[in-house]
Amino acid sequence: MRIPLERSGATPLYAQIEGFVRRAIGAGTLAANTRIPSARRLAGDLGISRMTVETAYARLEADGLLRRETGSGTFVMRQRPGGDPASAPAPAAWPRWQRDLASRALDWHRAPVAAAPVGAVAQIDFAAGGGDPRRFPLADLRSELRAVLQRDGRQALHYGDARGYEPLRRSVAELLSVHGLQAAADEVLITSGSQQGIALVAQLLLRPGDTVLVERPTYAAALDLFRALGVRIVDVPLDHQGMQVELLEPLLTRWQPKLIYTVPTFQNPSGSCMGSAQRRALVALAARHDVAVLEDDFVGDLRYEGNAQPPLKALDRSGNVIYVSTFSKMLTPGLRVGFVHAGGPVLELLAGLKRLTDLATSNLLQRALHRHVSIGRYEAHLRRSRRLYLRRRDAMARAVECCFPPGSSFALPAGGLFLWVGLPDGCSSSALLPLAIRAGISFAPGSEFFLDAPAGDRFLRLNFAAFTPEEIDCGIRELGRVMVAASRA
Ligand SMILES: Cc1ncc(COP(=O)(O)O)c(C=O)c1O
Repeated sequence: MRIPLERSGATPLYAQIEGFVRRAIGAGTLAANTRIPSARRLAGDLGISRMTVETAYARLEADGLLRRETGSGTFVMRQRPGGDPASAPAPAAWPRWQRDLASRALDWHRAPVAAAPVGAVAQIDFAAGGGDPRRFPLADLRSELRAVLQRDGRQALHYGDARGYEPLRRSVAELLSVHGLQAAADEVLITSGSQQGIALVAQLLLRPGDTVLVERPTYAAALDLFRALGVRIVDVPLDHQGMQVELLEPLLTRWQPKLIYTVPTFQNPSGSCMGSAQRRALVALAARHDVAVLEDDFVGDLRYEGNAQPPLKALDRSGNVIYVSTFSKMLTPGLRVGFVHAGGPVLELLAGLKRLTDLATSNLLQRALHRHVSIGRYEAHLRRSRRLYLRRRDAMARAVECCFPPGSSFALPAGGLFLWVGLPDGCSSSALLPLAIRAGISFAPGSEFFLDAPAGDRFLRLNFAAFTPEEIDCGIRELGRVMVAASRA
């Protein structure tokens, strides 16, 4: 224990040790049954007499905070719930900069839209942002991690290349090529999730006061990121064909944005998919106005019906489009592996910024993932996911049609993870949320996805991919019941 002692202070050394241990136990950082150093050892470490430590320990023991077991050592006792009140941090004791931060209204630091009732936990969390975590082949990951450690030994535990593990970059380039993007390994940057890709692009291209164009609605964490960077955000309405590109030209002229952020394929939250003509028009506009486009293709491969649309990046001949994607939705988000594909000087700069941010994405996990994502295996997983999620999408559409009150509406998405539901007039999703959570159901309220939060209050986003048709049926039926009861109240 590295206890800071004030040797020339007024407080006796035994009292300083006693106070330190008492606070640590009260705060829970020394948990019940933790073995602490013997008095002899601690005295040696601190360069003080053993008697001093013995006195401190004896006082803590007398107060029921420590227990000494002959021959085994000295242990922390189980504490009363709430701990030692004397050690609770006093808000006024934080340094001023901390207090100032807490009192500043940081608009990206969103308070929960609706406080959940105390103790209530949703059993069916339709707010989830990914696929079904139960489908992830855990046993494969276990054996791949073992195989990597056996094959690469300590090399797998070094930092690794900031641009990402080269064989994984090659696999990503191959995967992209199968899906219509001609990418080379050295045009790929591995990131810690695509969120980091978005953040790196935003940090590199945007300065406070610059303008970014986004869709309305759009991915909540991108919106918050742009808010945190202090940039001007201008939103462009979308319809079932994605961003209304025909509205772009005057906005480009007026605001001269540095970046257009778009999720063209199975958009989050709306599920809309940008048509081919709109894609071509967007890429042409970006070239004409010399503006970067950040294409977030988080679930582009999860198409259930209709024709595949080319990524914007595949249409881009002038180097304006920066493409980000992720393994989070198809495999699992906990790996934190995403990637950026771009050409030109921007990629090198992004790699530099990535190095400054976290040095590199986990070398070990990249190697394990590389063993896992051979083309054949990934494609087979994709085919199975598409079949499964299609059934779930249809189950949710049927359940919503049957159980939500009249006036609810949605457009069936051709792919992706979400059903975006418009609520009947007068129905507020943020008011509904605490009632739903009390009934064991959660969803993402629409306001999270709008720059102007109240404008989204008559929408909610439901994840259909993460649940079985039976769970969907039961959850949507319950949610419908809550909605009907709320409308009568
Ligand atoms: C549209 C979109 N982009 C990016 C991300 C970030 O995902 P990750 O950082 O796990 O790759 C998400 C996560 O929900 C998302 O919905």
